[in-house]
Amino acid sequence: MADARASALGSVHVPLYRAFRCDPDSIPVCGAVNCLMPDISADVRPGSATPVKPHGHEPLVIQGGMGAGVSAWLLARTVSAAGQLGVVSGTGIDTILVRRLQDGDPGGHMRRAMARFPIPGVAKRVLERFYLPTGRPAGQRYAALPMPDHRGSLRRDAITVLGNFVEVFLAREGHDQPVGINYLTKIQAPTLPSLYGALLAGVGYVLMGAGIPRDIPGALDQLARHEAAS
Ligand SMILES: Cc1cc2nc3c(=O)[nH]c(=O)nc-3n(C[C@H](O)[C@H](O)[C@H](O)COP(=O)(O)O)c2cc1C
Repeated sequence: MADARASALGSVHVPLYRAFRCDPDSIPVCGAVNCLMPDISADVRPGSATPVKPHGHEPLVIQGGMGAGVSAWLLARTVSAAGQLGVVSGTGIDTILVRRLQDGDPGGHMRRAMARFPIPGVAKRVLERFYLPTGRPAGQRYAALPMPDHRGSLRRDAITVLGNFVEVFLAREGHDQPVGINYLTKIQAPTLPSLYGALLAGVGYVLMGAGIPRDIPGALDQLARHEAAS
């Protein structure tokens, strides 16, 4: 962690991961974005992500990012609030979001976080399409999202941005300690919009399993400056 803090995007090795520290001063709160989603930039309004406070100490525990949805926001929030490094899983988190909405969003957590998403048109569309106030009728299957692909679809990528934002936002609620997010390097199609959503919510660390994420530090630099990333 000491190395990671020393440079804007230094790396630190932990079991199964490489972790990259984001520059807390460059967490985006507004401005243009062009991470293969050029049209979204017009919609981005000033956001409310609170700046990331670096750890005042090296964490003794780096909670594992277990996908999909096992390392959820509540676990990561609990670990980070205790002064350790809580990590949410970002794998398939857009699908998990729309399923939670179809389960009636018990506790209203998804809707609370979605209300803070800095691209409100996207949150509104997703709510209209997927939220079922009393949950799915018995036996009814979940409405699914299309699979992400490398050609990029604006609408599909926007939901990925939203899903990652929601999970990190909730994990950061109620304390001022950093939160990390975990992805799988091999699942590449959703990576850029995922990173951007996590950055919008003020993620402090990105941890990658299943591969060697050589391009991620550069992409984080670009996205944190609202530049095109590839
Ligand atoms: C159910 C489960 C799901 C996991 N999913 C992921 C994952 O999505 N990404 C990842 O990098 N590691 C994943 N891991 C690995 C863990 O994050 C962790 O690195 C690993 O379990 C080693 O930690 P341990 O020795 O404390 O179990 C998963 C582990 C488990 C048990």
